[in-house]
Amino acid sequence: MEQLLQVENLKTYFKLIDGTVKAVDGVSFSVNHGEALGIAGETGSGKSVTVKSIMRNMPSYAEITADKLTLEGIDLLKLSNKELQDIWGKKIAMIFQNPTSFINPLFTIEKQMTDVICFHEKIKKAEAVKIARNMLVLVGMPDPDAVLKSYPFQLSGGMIQRIMIALSLSCNPSLLIADEPTTALDVTIQAQIIKLLGDIKTHTSGLILITHNLAIITEICDKVAIMYAGKMMEWGGVNQVMKEPAHPYTQGLLAAIPRLSNESKKLEFIPGNIPSTVDPPKGCRFSPRCPYAKPVCTQEEPPMVEIAPSHFVACHCAGEGGCR
Ligand SMILES: Nc1ncnc2c1ncn2[C@@H]1O[C@H](COP(=O)(O)OP(=O)(O)OP(=O)(O)O)[C@@H](O)[C@H]1O
Ligand SMILES: [Mg+2]
Repeated sequence: MEQLLQVENLKTYFKLIDGTVKAVDGVSFSVNHGEALGIAGETGSGKSVTVKSIMRNMPSYAEITADKLTLEGIDLLKLSNKELQDIWGKKIAMIFQNPTSFINPLFTIEKQMTDVICFHEKIKKAEAVKIARNMLVLVGMPDPDAVLKSYPFQLSGGMIQRIMIALSLSCNPSLLIADEPTTALDVTIQAQIIKLLGDIKTHTSGLILITHNLAIITEICDKVAIMYAGKMMEWGGVNQVMKEPAHPYTQGLLAAIPRLSNESKKLEFIPGNIPSTVDPPKGCRFSPRCPYAKPVCTQEEPPMVEIAPSHFVACHCAGEGGCR
């Protein structure tokens, strides 16, 4: 399959007075055309910084470097600010956790959607209205004509998130990034938006979905990447990683999913906390919490190895029959 996005050795450092936050520290993965990649990991593991770095949507004090960061062959690190404006929305679009912060309360939905469509597609307003309406239909919006004439305060949170998804799809982006798109919504609306993301993933060439919910990743995505303290711990096909997780961190995350069938009724969790990315532990960053840590784990950083076709793991035990 042809590669859509290639990320090799991506590093994003924030140089602050107290030290350098190595929020993303040498992450590599790829998304092929037609694929959906899910990114999971505990809070602060660098998921949002990874995707915002891909978009180059970072504060000026962020230092982003990579051996390779390309989308459809375009070197994203070489783009000027003007070129980035053209890429955002048109080639890469992003849906955020809290949609209401990204919508202007003072303008109608029609104005906000058509402004974006006209900017990228260089078409007349009437044509842009048609596209906006079609997109609202695509995302299952009831009464799209009334919604176009509405102001954001007249709509629910779930409707606004649907509008954000419609808006992000309106310029046919090659890559759609959804960063915890359902966290701010109530449970029934969450299920609707997840179903919608599954339905619309065929309308873009690629999807990156960030969520803490591994069940959602299993449902929607083809590949999964597990991040921890700025590093990629494991990535590969969803079936491989979910059925045969090779990294103790992935195993811990999967064991921590509450199950009704759990007879002991004991909630599993990974003891300890995610370490500081200013002064991370030596060797494997997960070693202080790893039940299988060996002396080498606290001394040497494990390389990322391919333990099965397209299944990569950064663990000293990988390839040796797993951790024991
Ligand atoms: N603008 C910033 N300036 C300084 N540090 C930052 C900035 N943005 C993120 N960080 C730090 O980078 C690290 C990774 O943050 P990130 O937002 O990517 O985590 P995350 O995995 O998305 O977590 P969550 O699941 O809570 O959304 C954190 O330690 C965070 O404090
Ligand atoms: Mg985040």
